[in-house]
Amino acid sequence: AATRRYEWEVSYQFKSPDCVRKLSATINGQTPGPTIRATQGDTVEVKVRNSLLTENLAIHWHGIRQIGTPWADGTEGVTQCPILPGDTLTYAFVVDRPGTYMYHAHYGMQRSAGLYGVVVVVVAAAPGAKADDAEPFAYDDEHHVLLNDWWHNSTYELAVGLASVPMVWVGEPHSLLINGRGRFNCSAAAVPGTCNATSPECDTPVFAVVPGQTYRFRIASVTSLSALNFEIEDGRRRSGGHTTTRRATSAGLLVFLPFPHVHLGCWTLPTQRKWLSRPKSSYFAGSFLKSMVVLLGHEMTVVEADGHYVKPFVVKNINIYSGETYSVLIKADQDPNRNYWLASNVVSRQPATPTGTAILSYSGDRAPPSTTPPTGPAWNDTMYRFQQSVATVAHPAYVEPPPPRADRTILLLNTQNKIDAHTKWALNGVSFTLPHTPYLVAMKRGLLDTFDQRPPPETYAYQGYDVYAPPQNPNATTSDGLYRLRFGSVVDVVLQNANMLAPNKSETHPWHLHGHDFWVLGYGIGRFDPAVHPASYNLKDPVLKNTVAVHPYGWTALRFKADNPGVWAFHCHIEAHFFMGMGIVFEEGIQRVASLPPEIMGCGETNGGHR
Ligand code: C2O
Ligand code: CU
Repeated sequence: AATRRYEWEVSYQFKSPDCVRKLSATINGQTPGPTIRATQGDTVEVKVRNSLLTENLAIHWHGIRQIGTPWADGTEGVTQCPILPGDTLTYAFVVDRPGTYMYHAHYGMQRSAGLYGVVVVVVAAAPGAKADDAEPFAYDDEHHVLLNDWWHNSTYELAVGLASVPMVWVGEPHSLLINGRGRFNCSAAAVPGTCNATSPECDTPVFAVVPGQTYRFRIASVTSLSALNFEIEDGRRRSGGHTTTRRATSAGLLVFLPFPHVHLGCWTLPTQRKWLSRPKSSYFAGSFLKSMVVLLGHEMTVVEADGHYVKPFVVKNINIYSGETYSVLIKADQDPNRNYWLASNVVSRQPATPTGTAILSYSGDRAPPSTTPPTGPAWNDTMYRFQQSVATVAHPAYVEPPPPRADRTILLLNTQNKIDAHTKWALNGVSFTLPHTPYLVAMKRGLLDTFDQRPPPETYAYQGYDVYAPPQNPNATTSDGLYRLRFGSVVDVVLQNANMLAPNKSETHPWHLHGHDFWVLGYGIGRFDPAVHPASYNLKDPVLKNTVAVHPYGWTALRFKADNPGVWAFHCHIEAHFFMGMGIVFEEGIQRVASLPPEIMGCGETNGGHR
């Protein structure tokens, strides 16, 4: 195993990622930052210097479990003090599993300023073998697609707005970026002279392909807010419209139709309304796999999710939530005499942002296609996205069965609340705040006066709770208490979504767990019933992930083993939601953590003498 060394200087620079000039947080002058490419088992060492001048910094390695190095997780307030302007911190950790991951700032709303990038860990090959020999699929080459949403407002403006009374919501993004590039319509620019449509910084990215070859697209979403749908235009849809349909094969191939209410023989996609009017309904993996296949060209075979091989399934387009990664295989099998759009569209929230675009080019020329980019599925077709979630299961040859039962179940009701007129998010009525002394240091040193020692609630009064109505009591409390897990125990977490403060509104929340992967045991729409639903959990081939969607009015059940000594954040990956308290923290095996590097200290009571 090798050590991959990087030296990064993080600084603000004027950039025009969507043609509008904005102060952007860059790494060595670039946003997105450089791609980290390593081999399974390597040590990655990143020396980060904070040259942001007036702003703290922390960088999280999203999806890397940090086994034995919990202090390198990069979570400000949880595992480290922030890196002060002018200071340097070296993150060193082992990338123990192959797959597609990401890194991003984990301080305030800093991610939205442009501080993120892709981490690719390739399979350690046997001597003489090609790396992809060890993977359950083959491809000729790969491309990386980093998806993001982008605001022209500064990260300060966004953060202060959220903290204000009344709250000023961040609003829908101005642009959607693909590999850090987008195109804002300059005639709509708020400040004249800041938009330059000919800036090379907003050139539309081009993905070159060779006819007949198969590509692995590694897709990662670092959005601050948006759920996205990613699609590659095909050559048939608009040139005659002929599609062929056939039954799903025994390999379980299927296509999620881009059209929300298409009738296919005996099988119809239920509309969202139908599901919402059936409060007790829940939906498990399985039934969707009996659907039909439609071949259109440039369809995607999903093969990896969050660093784990999945049972391959074919989609016309893929839904991806903030914090998720996927690998899809795409065959360059369309008419090579023209170019095609890659399109990123907002789903799950009513879109107010133009489609983010890039170009798929067979000839190498950069000409934008004359067609209209795909607009994706209906934004409010919850079931379409739900079905992709339940169809994502472990690859048959890579199933890691979950422990058959849990030692502890934590039921977390996600609600939007008011606290002293501030708008917040809460779990079981408790809105999360970060302590001044990072938990990892506080717990290791027994600085127990630095955070609330009362554990947050394990559940809520679920029997009387109507997830389809605004909370009867909109008030919540704040706490920086954490959940202490018995080392080695098996923990179930059920995330229950509900109606927001305004009626008839429930959003999608992508929850991300640091330090672990979890098995995704089940999803449902409506209220979770602990006496009924666990019986339908998928214990056979659940996928392992680190980020999972909780769908509107729905619940998601997951299981993990508390076997990684450290302190780990678990939160909604929508940056504004975490900022508004939508998160919790787990501690496990703190006494097994080796001595902490002094470089992570310097804030709160961390300098109270070494014990
Ligand atoms: Cu990618 Cu705590 O986040
Ligand atoms: Cu959220």
